[in-house]
Amino acid sequence: MSALAAFTVLAHYLTTVTAAPVPFGFSDIVDGIGDLFDGDLIESLLSDDQDTVASKAVSSVISGTLSPDLLPDILYFAEFSGAAYCDPKNTPGQRVSCTEGVCPTVQANNVTTIAEFDDTQETDTTGIVARDDTTKTIVITFRGSQSLRNWLANVQLLFKDVPEYCNGCQVHTGFHEAFLEGFPTVLAAFTSLKAENPDYRTVVTGHSLGGAIATITATELRRLGNEVQLFTYGSPRVGNAAMAAFITSAGNNSRITHIDDPVPRLPPVFLEYEHVSPEFHITRGDSNIQPQDINILEGGVNLGGNTGGSAISVDILAHLHYLLPVVISDCGGLGDLDIFGKVKN
Ligand SMILES: *[C@@H]1O[C@H](CO)[C@@H](O)[C@H](O)[C@H]1NC(C)=O
Ligand SMILES: *[C@@H]1O[C@H](CO)[C@@H](O)[C@H](O)[C@H]1NC(C)=O
Repeated sequence: MSALAAFTVLAHYLTTVTAAPVPFGFSDIVDGIGDLFDGDLIESLLSDDQDTVASKAVSSVISGTLSPDLLPDILYFAEFSGAAYCDPKNTPGQRVSCTEGVCPTVQANNVTTIAEFDDTQETDTTGIVARDDTTKTIVITFRGSQSLRNWLANVQLLFKDVPEYCNGCQVHTGFHEAFLEGFPTVLAAFTSLKAENPDYRTVVTGHSLGGAIATITATELRRLGNEVQLFTYGSPRVGNAAMAAFITSAGNNSRITHIDDPVPRLPPVFLEYEHVSPEFHITRGDSNIQPQDINILEGGVNLGGNTGGSAISVDILAHLHYLLPVVISDCGGLGDLDIFGKVKN
């Protein structure tokens, strides 16, 4: 069976056979095809998705380039997304610290770790809640998955209904599980921080799987009445069109993608996944990113950015490089790239 055929069978299984919540014996199935999750599979998958992507595209129009005001934030929260990989160095009560080049500004700002969550039981959800007195910000940041085990949560492609957000809103079951595992710790730390620092803004951020968990966490914090800004880097799609539109309508979302990073092209549009917008698409490989290097795209499926790029190249390096002079997951080695099988640094 080809990789794509195996994937199609899996997808069919998930979308038709399991009406009930995702079976946890599911990991057995995944173990069996785990070795198929390599670059070839991703390539077949992306090329298989091209027709659906084209038919669902709302636009290929670039709405504009970045306002220079937003660039410092996009850079700063990339550092925080990288810092999430530096756990378990970031123990509560201590300053956030990273290996060289990952979070220099965060370190200079003496940011304090308030809570950390690490290797939660099912999904390995990992991250920190931090208090930044220099910029008066409460930051919640999630790591991408460090192991294939964690990425397997991403293969829980079955949608879960989340009517608490909107009628018809559906979210990726695996990402939602991962969100649920981290959320009690996040909420407790956030609630007391916000009570002590009511004038601080709240930012939720993360890279890769961490970006997906950040997106759901921000959505839940907003539902609970909080104003939250979201910055994600190389996030996969998290839900269906209704969910994506609902999150988009809240505003204050910055979904950052990089050239042909394959991760934001997953899960595929043919399984009904769409993206939160706007997308800020970085069109260069360098770390010295300027406003003119970033295009802004609107809509759930827009061919003007990452989604419309080459489906043939699985550009792993584009997934690892987000604005920083080093690999964003540098503290955690190769981060979540086990999924591609043939990863080189
Ligand atoms: C961070 O802490 C160091 C050492 O305590 C201090 O010298 C520096 O001024 C602090 N920086 C900020 C931005 O608070
Ligand atoms: C976005 O967040 C900032 C900071 O919390 C806030 O000032 C602004 O009003 C928010 N914008 C929207 C559209 O909610």
